[in-house]
Amino acid sequence: MGEIGIYHGNIVFSKTEKELAEYRNGYIVVERGVVEGIYERVPDRFCGVPVRDFDSGVMIPAFSDLHTHAPQYPQRGVKTDALLKEWLEKYTFPLEGRFSDPEFADAVYDAFIGDMIRRGTMHVVTFGTIHEQATGMLIEKLEKKGIDAYVGKVNMDENGPEYLCERKEDSLSVTERFLEKYCANRRAKPILTPRFAPTCSGELLTGLGKLAKKYDVGMQTHLVESLWEKKETLRLFPDCSCDTEVYEKAGLFGHGPLVGAHFIFPSEEDIRLLNRYSGYAVQCPEATVNVIAGIMPTALLSERGVKLGLGSDVAAGQSLGIFSQAAKSVQLSKIKSFYEPENKVVSFAQAFFMATKQGGSLFGKTGSLEKGYAFDALVIDGLSDEFAPLSPVETVERFCYAGSADNILARFLRGCEIG
Ligand code: GUN
Ligand code: FE
Repeated sequence: MGEIGIYHGNIVFSKTEKELAEYRNGYIVVERGVVEGIYERVPDRFCGVPVRDFDSGVMIPAFSDLHTHAPQYPQRGVKTDALLKEWLEKYTFPLEGRFSDPEFADAVYDAFIGDMIRRGTMHVVTFGTIHEQATGMLIEKLEKKGIDAYVGKVNMDENGPEYLCERKEDSLSVTERFLEKYCANRRAKPILTPRFAPTCSGELLTGLGKLAKKYDVGMQTHLVESLWEKKETLRLFPDCSCDTEVYEKAGLFGHGPLVGAHFIFPSEEDIRLLNRYSGYAVQCPEATVNVIAGIMPTALLSERGVKLGLGSDVAAGQSLGIFSQAAKSVQLSKIKSFYEPENKVVSFAQAFFMATKQGGSLFGKTGSLEKGYAFDALVIDGLSDEFAPLSPVETVERFCYAGSADNILARFLRGCEIG
């Protein structure tokens, strides 16, 4: 009975967008890294297989971070005294400029990956920088850890500082080399990453569209993230009716995952186009209140069938913990609903769904503990008080609202314990 693991404890995962499944004192059987089933008692056919007991611990799916910037990790939680445009120019671009130094990149990317795993994130879509060598190091490090990832070498050829502005031809040839080198990766894969429309020429985007087709690769960018960005994009691309159309016209859609970070101010056309290509809109709750100042109409997008995920968006966001982003997603929806009652409040179940099962769907069968899903899982504990014990679902809720990485007792990636 090699390659079988049996774990005893409480189990919580998203059944649907609206409902969490809860098992008390259950046994989860994992075969070759995949959940075989959840049982009240260990079935006879597994007799003799040792059981690992997590006692009062709660097993939950590991988290998926659908939007972050690994190179901005050194800036988390500081330099948030400016909004997007000024924040980029004053702080973030100079930091990214330092990734021309591979030694700096090496140290930052090790710290970033370590912190991300410690906080229970096992799947990530991340920006690198424009730098080929540094971004190569990031993708190699993630691959080595076995983390499911999409990693982008950033493209930008306009409206940035000289040290981050590429020549269009160089941007395209370096990107093509990056795609060729890493497209055979098993876990950490490349994704096209035009930074956002204000820093990309139409010709650069069209060139990237050709690469998308040639290499059958998806794309990530920042989409309708602020009123300034939305207005600036329509000024720079007057023949497009919305931000999303800029990338669609360039041929960037339909070749792999499509990830639009923020999606805070979408028009009807933005929503229609994202849905047509089954794109994900990623809410980044901390970034929203630190450098963007807008709230995604999450409930409304969900009603419209948009696929949703959560992102840490470090360093606009301060923490790599997707669990705390889930709580903040609920909190932000209450503020939005107060000022704009047509936007409904997001339930905790829905936010957890975005953080796990829905976000995880971008990477394959992960983000749930149902039969057939990868056992990418966390065990959390230490959240109940003696005088007020919590149910397993309440334990998960308190973890997201008031817990920390210290509450994660064990981490599993495809059935193997890591971290
Ligand atoms: N828009 C363009 N670049 C960035 C970035 O680095 N962070 C965020 N949050 N938004 C951006
Ligand atoms: Fe971002």
